[in-house]
Amino acid sequence: MKLELVGITKKFGPLIANDHINIEVEPGQIHALLGENGAGKSTLMNVLYGLYEPDEGEIRINGKPVAFNGPGDAVAAGIGMVHQHFMLVPVFTVAESVALGYEPTHPLFGMLNMSEAKKIVKETSKRFGFDLDPNAKIEDLPVGSQQRVEIVKALSRKAEVLILDEPTAVLTPAETDELMAIMKELAAAGTSIVFITHKLREVRAVADKITVIRRGKVVGEASPESSETELANLMVGRSVLLKVEKDPPKPAPTALSVKNLSYINDDGVVLVDDVDLDVQAGEILGIAGVQGNGQEELAELLIGLLQPTEGTIDLNGETITKHTVRRRVDDGVGFIPEDRIEDGMVADFSVAENLVLNQYRSKKFSRGLSILPKKIQQNAEKLREEFDIRLTDVSYPMTTLSGGNQQKVIVAREMSRKLSLLVASQPTRGVDVGSIEFIHNRIVKERDTGTGVILISSELDEIQSLSDRIAVMYRGKIVGIVPSHTPNSVLGLMMAGVPMEEAMEQEAS
Ligand SMILES: Nc1ncnc2c1ncn2[C@@H]1O[C@H](COP(=O)(O)OP(=O)(O)OP(=O)(O)O)[C@@H](O)[C@H]1O
Ligand SMILES: [Mg+2]
Repeated sequence: MKLELVGITKKFGPLIANDHINIEVEPGQIHALLGENGAGKSTLMNVLYGLYEPDEGEIRINGKPVAFNGPGDAVAAGIGMVHQHFMLVPVFTVAESVALGYEPTHPLFGMLNMSEAKKIVKETSKRFGFDLDPNAKIEDLPVGSQQRVEIVKALSRKAEVLILDEPTAVLTPAETDELMAIMKELAAAGTSIVFITHKLREVRAVADKITVIRRGKVVGEASPESSETELANLMVGRSVLLKVEKDPPKPAPTALSVKNLSYINDDGVVLVDDVDLDVQAGEILGIAGVQGNGQEELAELLIGLLQPTEGTIDLNGETITKHTVRRRVDDGVGFIPEDRIEDGMVADFSVAENLVLNQYRSKKFSRGLSILPKKIQQNAEKLREEFDIRLTDVSYPMTTLSGGNQQKVIVAREMSRKLSLLVASQPTRGVDVGSIEFIHNRIVKERDTGTGVILISSELDEIQSLSDRIAVMYRGKIVGIVPSHTPNSVLGLMMAGVPMEEAMEQEAS
């Protein structure tokens, strides 16, 4: 069906998040929506999905104006959406989430029983190459799997218009390719797709049409043949350096030393297997690997969220294996978590409070038992400026921030105090190309002040351009530690578990 957004305007108090936006989506078209963090993409999609009522403007389907009083109406009109911030109920199972997600107005509602729901989950997952257990509880799943549930749920509804708000942010590269293939298939069969992503490679691969929005306004269209540099420039309104510039690290003492570190979970599964690692002060050690090979558990062991089954962690020569999370913060360990909403912030607290979450007891922000609101406010204003966090007011709750700006708050907080070790997990997830450039430069700057950095990322590009050395993880083990200029093909083999020497030999022959 043909979809038109005509003059859509949506305000939040004084902020105009969408300013007379006009967009047309033809049947069977993949329409990419590009724009920097806070540009208004999710807001626009939430208007289209009936979650927000627009202040002005109109939605037309096949030329006829429609009014949605809630997502139920949008679903009934044939619109499906994968949200940037998942709307899943934590205590539901995967199958329940898919089944109960059907709004009452949907014809299938009431007819769908649990065994059918399980079948849908199994079949849809199988088709898309997703590994999803229909009986797993949402709250026990990593973000990547929650994203897969959202996708399965939206696809199983067979919508005529599918809104995908950053569906690939937490998918593995293989899953992303799979999803893009599905998108093309659906479009060929007539489904219209609105696709939001910050990964320009994906836009170029699937988009039929590209609309760029900036500060709530449509600023232009781009051809899918545009280069990544051209798209980046259009998006942020200036030229963006997609390559990181840095000097080789200077010789320095060891900051972090990990020996024989293992973690076995309650079910007896070995998730981190006898890991030995050293990180120099002023060095970035990248951890490459396919998601789910123990990288997250390694990060959680380092910051104290998990206790190792065996092994030791030393920081600047002191053993910190038994230190609590709090103590490690004081030891100078910084952490940018993979799941920013779950582990990185308190959603209902203000942005200013979130910017001092682990420091409000420090002398800087408190005197005796009382906190100093003015200092917290000043700190927030300073970091907002420095990290270009786009928001209306630092006293507003974190939930009023766009996804990428929430990420920037966490990065700003962790990088605004003196660190010995920074554990950065997917530090640029969901942030726009301009902010990626900024965060990358900040990480290098952090390194240059003598902080040891562990960088975990599913983006091989990011690992290669930032790291001084790369450790490859596979099934909880470090397969090998290689220089950052190691070819992709060798890294790829190692990520599949091929030992370093063998991978090098295969590459040479
Ligand atoms: N409930 C709300 N209350 C106040 N302001 C809001 C609310 N929701 C969004 N905003 C503001 O509206 C603007 C647009 O946000 P939106 O989430 O649409 O951006 P986005 O383009 O999706 O960005 P991102 O790429 O980071 O996801 C932002 O400045 C945001 O802070
Ligand atoms: Mg968004």
